[in-house]
Amino acid sequence: MKYVEIKPGIFWVGAIDWAVRDFHGYVTPKGTTYNNYLILDEQITLVDTVKYDFSHVTMDNIRNLIDPSRIANVIINHIEPDHASSIDKIMTVAPDATIYITDKGKKGLDRHFDTSKWKFRIVKTGDTLNTGRYNLVFLETPMLHWPDSMMTYVREAKLLVSQDAFGQHLATSSRFDDEFIECASHAELEDAVIDYYANILMPFGQLIKTKIAEVLKLGLDIDMIAPDHGVIWRSGPGHIIQKYLDLADGKAHLSVAVIYDTMWHSTERMTLPIMKGIKDEGVDCNVIKLRATPMSVAVKEFWKARGCLIGSPTLNNILFPTVAEFLTHLRGLRPKNRIVGAFGSFGWGGGAVKEAYEEFVRMKLKVFEPGFQVLYNPSAEDEVRCYEFAREFARKVKEYHAEFK
Ligand code: FEO
Repeated sequence: MKYVEIKPGIFWVGAIDWAVRDFHGYVTPKGTTYNNYLILDEQITLVDTVKYDFSHVTMDNIRNLIDPSRIANVIINHIEPDHASSIDKIMTVAPDATIYITDKGKKGLDRHFDTSKWKFRIVKTGDTLNTGRYNLVFLETPMLHWPDSMMTYVREAKLLVSQDAFGQHLATSSRFDDEFIECASHAELEDAVIDYYANILMPFGQLIKTKIAEVLKLGLDIDMIAPDHGVIWRSGPGHIIQKYLDLADGKAHLSVAVIYDTMWHSTERMTLPIMKGIKDEGVDCNVIKLRATPMSVAVKEFWKARGCLIGSPTLNNILFPTVAEFLTHLRGLRPKNRIVGAFGSFGWGGGAVKEAYEEFVRMKLKVFEPGFQVLYNPSAEDEVRCYEFAREFARKVKEYHAEFK
């Protein structure tokens, strides 16, 4: 994919990773892109690099525009390797360039590269760089989502380069949101935004709200947001900003995600009357079997729904391993504003449902009690009890959901 001019003299020079399906454990069925941007001005400035494996792609894109040795400044908004691991390649061809980075970013970069011969300028929020016709303003965004993170605002272009924030893992030949929607759909783009937010940014909701408020208070005139993954938001960035505020507020559908695993299909058989009970209360329901679903997809489906029922058989007196793994992963993401309950089957001692509730308490989620479990296979009477358990849960989900209106 050739470079693309996104604003006068400002070019996308990134790479499309059509093949990646495992992004440090996060499943990316649609691949991703590593976006970086080249500002052709009196001082040529590169904003971010790309994942090391694609350094030749960005170098080719740059070379097709200018001699890369002319790069005067390199801005590193975020040091995670998908964005910064080509910095040594850039500095080899442009050794006199100055790297603009936060203090934490510099310290992190020192742990990845021999930086002793590179020139740095450590920047803070409000610091600026004049490249000629453009003035760049740096905005620190610590813990969004690493301590080093920052964004770069190009004032005269009304462009915010937002690094990971507002990104999506989508490999596409469309560089802009409106192009993607025309070729694919709005729903697909929306799904990619939620997927990305749920798996990467969910723990930082409060910080996101604070940072967006801070940016809005600065009165920056933004008509384009260019993240480091996925499509660039050029058709009314207000929409994606509002979407992030909604996600950060824990906005959800009036629906229930039934997330389970099973050994000999007993817990699985319980999901059918449970789904029916939820639907009969007028609440939508999505049933997800963990062994058949990538973890990141289960996380996304959890985050979309106001309520979640976890189903697990008991194995050796504790949770089934895939369910335990899911709940541990979820705890790290610090979910909020969700109501949860648990069900399952056991043979002799039980323990899975109790352990699921212990995890819910650790996560400080709203809990629906008591949980529900059956001995070996659910009998016809058990299936009726499953149905009633699910109806009661769905009623509580509706009540809880109403609190967010
Ligand atoms: Fe896309 Fe935090 O790296």
